[in-house]
This record gives sequence, structure tokens and C-alpha cells, in this order.
Amino acid sequence: MKTPVRVAVTGAAGQISYSLLFRIASGAMFGPDQPVILQLIEVPVEKAMQALDGVAMELEDCAFPLLKGLVLTSDAKVGFKDANWCLLVGAKPRGPGMERADLLKDNGKIFIEQGKIIDAVAADNARVAVVGNPANTNCMIAASQAKRLPAERFTAMVRLDQNRAQSQLAKKAGVDLTEVKNIFIYGNHSPTMYPAYPHATISGKPLLDVIGDKAWLQGPFCETVGKRGAAIIAARGASSAASAANALVDHVRDLTTPGRVHSVAVKSNGAYGFDPNVWAGLPVRTTGPGSYEVITNYRMCECCQAKLAVTNQELVEERAAVSALL
Ligand code: NAD
Ligand code: LMR
Repeated sequence: MKTPVRVAVTGAAGQISYSLLFRIASGAMFGPDQPVILQLIEVPVEKAMQALDGVAMELEDCAFPLLKGLVLTSDAKVGFKDANWCLLVGAKPRGPGMERADLLKDNGKIFIEQGKIIDAVAADNARVAVVGNPANTNCMIAASQAKRLPAERFTAMVRLDQNRAQSQLAKKAGVDLTEVKNIFIYGNHSPTMYPAYPHATISGKPLLDVIGDKAWLQGPFCETVGKRGAAIIAARGASSAASAANALVDHVRDLTTPGRVHSVAVKSNGAYGFDPNVWAGLPVRTTGPGSYEVITNYRMCECCQAKLAVTNQELVEERAAVSALL
């Protein structure tokens, strides 16, 4: 039997985790023959720890053959100990009328502490995926605290946006969504994100030729994808949870499957004109378990470049807003 992967999850009693943990334990994230140990971290508050006990009971009651151990803790040093993957979900969600960046003040400090602890106690091959909003900048904050783990190990999730874009395009074109390929998210997980369509295809043909409606692509399409999170909050009274968990499964599964090309927020290193020190959504190709290269040769028209400049500027401003913390 393979050695179990240790997966630390923060916010383990929250909404996203209530979908996520069962998918991980069932094998959806790491594959049907890969055992896992879940290291579940919550805040040291009785109500949260009690809810976590309930989640653990349900995990046991699923009798997942791949689930080889459960750790429940409010001590991040215990939770991240020897973790191979650290999934940073635990953070405050936004409410109606808020932007994700409004959460920086409350959530930013969580990632300072967790970045330090992960760097100190996680496994040598540890990888980090940040979901808690604003995800890109929280990821930059966590990475800024690491001395041992390289910055490339810290990724943030824009996969939910990629999945949203793929579904919208398939609906518009009236095709099965598996026909939509190479749609990637650039920049911030915020309304400024750019779901760049010029290199996307539908059934092997250039997307623009199939959809033929540039005005829709540049307007309503970008707007729907960029503001989908707010639309869900308005409809549900709570932020997306099951689709976010599903996107994190996709994010980690594709980062551990060599050859996959997908959207991940990573340290930009200057690709596509992004500031080298922001974490921007970019197309990456997975090169090994947890390692990747950024695909840098997609050509961008002037209009796309203008959109990338806007989302880059927002990331630079978010970084400036937390510079005192770093
Ligand atoms: P939730 O409020 O249901 O759960 C969050 C949980 O995190 C709570 O149980 C809370 O006690 C816990 N928590 C808070 N601080 C913690 C800490 N320091 N350590 C450990 N646990 C901690 O929220 P949710 O719906 O699960 O959403 C979690 C976060 O994910 C929010 O910030 C939300 O905005 C974000 N989110 C991101 C995306 C994305 O695409 N990147 C999608 C959906 C939601
Ligand atoms: C989403 O995109 O659904 C999440 O980031 C939650 C939110 O605040 O929009």
C-alpha cells in the first residue's frame, strides 16, 4: 500500500470543508489508490471544535477505505505537522455588498501565522493551496513568511473561476462543456480577473469563430464570471461552498497530474506583465507531483493586455495595503 498523504485543512468545520473533506477521503483529490490522513484545524472555540467532532463522526461513518487517520486540533503546529498538502480554507467569508478585498484586514493576519508554522513544521515536500479570501494576496502573505519552502510551493485557487467560465461558454455555444478547452483565468480572484478567451477553443475551433459575438465575450461573459461569487451570495445568503470545494479538488488533482494545463494563482515572476511579486492567476502546466511551469507564450491582443494591467494593478494595491504585516 502507498504511504498515506497527510492533508492539513484549516476551517475544517466550515461550509467549504463540509463538502471538501468527504471528496478528499473518497479519493477524488489524490486518486483511488492513494490513502490519506486528514489533519483538521479549527479555531480554539468550543462551538467550532464541537462542530469539528461532528464532521469527524460523519467521516468515520462513511467508512472510506482510503482514510487512514484523522487529527482534530485547534493547534496549527499540530495540524500542519509533516503535512504534504496544506489547504488553507479557514477564513471569514464576505457578506452581501462586500468585495473580497474588504476581508484583508481580518483574514490577512491568519496567513502570517500559518505561513510561519507551515514553514516550520510541514513536510519537506509540502505544497500549499489557499482558498480563504482574498485568496491571491493571502497566499502572497503566507509565502512571504517562508524561509525553507520556496515561493512556488504556495498557490491560490482561481479554478472555480475557470470552471465557471467553461460552463458559461458551453452554454452560450450550445455544446457539451468538455468541448471547451484552454480557457484560463488571469490575475486576481476578484471582479477584475480576466478569463482570456483568445486562445480558447470549442470543438477544436477558435472560440471566437464559434461564438462569433465579441461584444458578449468582452462584456457579459467577463462580468458573469467575475461577479459569480457575489451572485451566489445574493441568491444563497452565503458564499459558494460545494463548487468551491469541487474546484479545490480540481486544483490539487491537476497539480499532481503531470501534463495537465490549468489556471492556478502563482508567483508571477513577471509573466504577462504582472508585477513579479504578486500571486496572479496564470495558465500552468503540471510537470511533476506538485510542480509546474507557467505557460508564457500565449499571445495577448491590446485589449487583453489592458485587462491584465487592471487586475495586476489591483493585486499591487492589495499587496501595498498589507505591506506593514509582511
Ligand atoms: P465558513 O465561515 O463556513 O468557514 C470558515 C471556517 O474557518 C470556520 O469554521 C472558522 O471557524 C474557521 N477558521 C477561521 N479562522 C481560522 C484559523 N485561523 N484557523 C483555522 N480555522 C479557521 O466559510 P467558508 O464558506 O468555508 O469559506 C471559507 C473561505 O473561503 C472564505 O474566506 C471564503 O470567502 C473563501 N472562498 C474562496 C473561494 C475561492 O474561489 N478562492 C470560493 C469560496 C469561498
Ligand atoms: C466565490 O467566488 O464564490 C468566493 O470567492 C466567495 C465570494 O466571496 O465570492
